[in-house]
Amino acid sequence: MSRIIVFGAGGRAGRAVTGEALSRGHEVTAAVRNPDAHRTLERPGVTLVRGDVTAPGEVSSLAPGHDAAVHAVSPFSGPEADFSTLDPEFFVKSADALLAGLEAAEAPSLLLVGLFANLVTPDGVPVMDDPGLFPEHIRPFALAHTAGLERLRAAGAGVRWLMLTPPAALDPDGPRTGRYAFGGETLVDAPLSYADLAVAIVDEIESPTRRGRVSVFTPAAEAGRTT
Ligand SMILES: NC(=O)c1ccc[n+]([C@@H]2O[C@H](COP(=O)([O-])OP(=O)(O)OC[C@H]3O[C@@H](n4cnc5c(N)ncnc54)[C@H](OP(=O)(O)O)[C@@H]3O)[C@@H](O)[C@H]2O)c1
Repeated sequence: MSRIIVFGAGGRAGRAVTGEALSRGHEVTAAVRNPDAHRTLERPGVTLVRGDVTAPGEVSSLAPGHDAAVHAVSPFSGPEADFSTLDPEFFVKSADALLAGLEAAEAPSLLLVGLFANLVTPDGVPVMDDPGLFPEHIRPFALAHTAGLERLRAAGAGVRWLMLTPPAALDPDGPRTGRYAFGGETLVDAPLSYADLAVAIVDEIESPTRRGRVSVFTPAAEAGRTT
């Protein structure tokens, strides 16, 4: 049994990871900005706490006692969002807070959900630079995500971090098949469910096989096609 703290536990990825971890007998600290808005997360095995992932003091006070942390936070929830208020440093701040807090707590395992925009096409073009694949108006969000990834890559080895980057289609209603595949930096056209993303994250907490940044997608037999 592991103790896992999930930042953004009230979101789509956060709820999926929380549910997957609980189903395997782990204990989850569900960190959300406003616990009163997320009382439905409360159940045996879950401790609901207030926690802003960009606040170093909050992260460092919450981290001790956990074996792993999950970054399932997003400052925006959909392509229709207005990104004019986005802090371009959001994911840099969260990376800094998590790396410092986890290293101090000697809880050196950090799992993060990435964004497909900073994968590359089979031609080597960043997905965010291809308007056919990634809408131009979401570019500020992609750049903010990418800045966070670069911050992680520049960090020392004190925390083992793994960013799992989904395909473009990440389905909140898709089934849990329990199957997924890891790739590298190239986008794979093989939709994944949040449920299977959560399986991959909890598998990597239980038995780490990767570190750094990977793509994660549905295996070819189920997706029908990969590129
Ligand atoms: N295809 C793709 O590559 C793809 C698709 C979707 C998502 N993603 C990525 O997956 C990750 C999770 O996305 P999601 O779809 O699960 O998002 P979501 O459903 O919108 O949930 C995001 C959660 O983050 C929380 N949050 C926002 N700011 C926070 C902060 N400062 N501290 C703590 N929590 C905060 C929100 O809490 P409140 O409840 O307080 O608002 C919300 O519950 C993100 O990195 C997102 O970019 C990738």
